[in-house]
Amino acid sequence: MADRSIHVLGLRCRKPLFLFFGFVALCSLSHGSTSSGSPPAAPIVGSSVLPSSKILSVVESTGGAEMELAGHQDRQHERCDPERARLKVFMYDLPAEFHFGLLGWTPKGDGVWPDIKEEKIPDYPGGLNLQHSIEYWLTLDLLSSRFGDRRGPCIAVRVMDSREADVVFVPFFSSLSYNRHSKVTPPMKESTNKMLQNKLVQFLVSQEEWKRSGGRDHVVMAHHPNSMLDARMKLWPCVFILSDFGRYPPTIANVEKDIIAPYKHVVRTFENDSSGFDDRRTLLYFQGAIYRKDGGFIRQELYYLLREEKDVHFSFGSIQANGIKDSTRGMRSSKFCLNIAGDTPSSNRLFDAIASHCVPVIISDDIELPYEDILDYSKFCVFVRTSDALKKNFLLKLIRGISKEEWTRMWERLKEVEGYFEFGYPSQKNDAVQMIWQAVARKVPEIKLKLHRHKRFSRFDVDR
Ligand SMILES: *[C@@H]1O[C@H](CO)[C@@H](O)[C@H](O)[C@H]1NC(C)=O
Repeated sequence: MADRSIHVLGLRCRKPLFLFFGFVALCSLSHGSTSSGSPPAAPIVGSSVLPSSKILSVVESTGGAEMELAGHQDRQHERCDPERARLKVFMYDLPAEFHFGLLGWTPKGDGVWPDIKEEKIPDYPGGLNLQHSIEYWLTLDLLSSRFGDRRGPCIAVRVMDSREADVVFVPFFSSLSYNRHSKVTPPMKESTNKMLQNKLVQFLVSQEEWKRSGGRDHVVMAHHPNSMLDARMKLWPCVFILSDFGRYPPTIANVEKDIIAPYKHVVRTFENDSSGFDDRRTLLYFQGAIYRKDGGFIRQELYYLLREEKDVHFSFGSIQANGIKDSTRGMRSSKFCLNIAGDTPSSNRLFDAIASHCVPVIISDDIELPYEDILDYSKFCVFVRTSDALKKNFLLKLIRGISKEEWTRMWERLKEVEGYFEFGYPSQKNDAVQMIWQAVARKVPEIKLKLHRHKRFSRFDVDR
């Protein structure tokens, strides 16, 4: 147990202070009991030293079984008790132009939020916009977090007093703002997207909550790699929720401070999938633009290496161009699906592959994956270094060497984990919304540490 724990903590805790912190967690764990005779699971961050943060024990068992959640309020049939929620979230009442206004909704009276209990909930635009729609699902979840009849998961609840909050949530639909409002239309001098970002920064830095924390406990969503382009440098102390770190300097965003969230997949989830190894006739499937700039040259190289292979399918163009139906059929009838770095290290394709139970083969050296601190992707993905993938015959030899039994284990695991990548409202136990909130909750002890250090010399303001 110790080995595994140290390993896990070692990954997360590079700095001496965190090592000490990890040591505390490790010690307190070694006194705890472990579950039912199975191999003990690795602790993540346990922190009884910080009173207001909830002790987290999302663990992944070593046997590839379902992830378990400690606590009793998460059961689907039980009512959510806001007092026992893991994460208390204060949300700014930003004007509607930052969120539902971007969906064409106009507030009635002074309110800034739609009444999602009584009114029809404004739709988020479809197509590829949906890939980055985490902003919508997280906000809806918070808005509904105190409904009296709310059942099911209850990780995050909204609190109206920021002093009770673990984190401060900034409900700006930044990806939609980028996707829909980046054009400058005269006589406007700047795009709506740029204007909103500037306005947001001005708003944030003037808030009590920001002044108190320097922004360190603020959660800002910027899932589209180009969203928040103007504001990101000014908001660097925040916890960003991102798709990857490809377009961020490491000082602005990094795996210690920030959170990687999945894309919302475009193809439909393969329900009741009984399409096993022998039913999936294509060995390896790739769909994507082939000629890409930057790191994407590898796609072209791989195409030349693999194009003669009969059981390898390459199709070019976006999923939209080829039709979602085609790619759904293609992925469902393939054993392995290639994910090659494009303009940025991450892409939606990975999540389409997971939803299709097509074992992802990931060739992207800088990719970061959602919830990887509690999820072992090597159990259901194959990782190949770019330098290896470009060696003649390397990739196919590796993939052909994976036995039916091994593949089937990964396929079964895919079916177990797919729920962690599903977005929806109302959200379900351990779906992407809840997994992201849990990931935020796991950051809270580190945030508190930074806040307390930040406050050391602010001795005269007792309220701070
Ligand atoms: C999958 O199986 C369940 C239970 O048998 C059924 O209710 C559901 O309609 C099926 N879904 C599809 C897409 O066939």
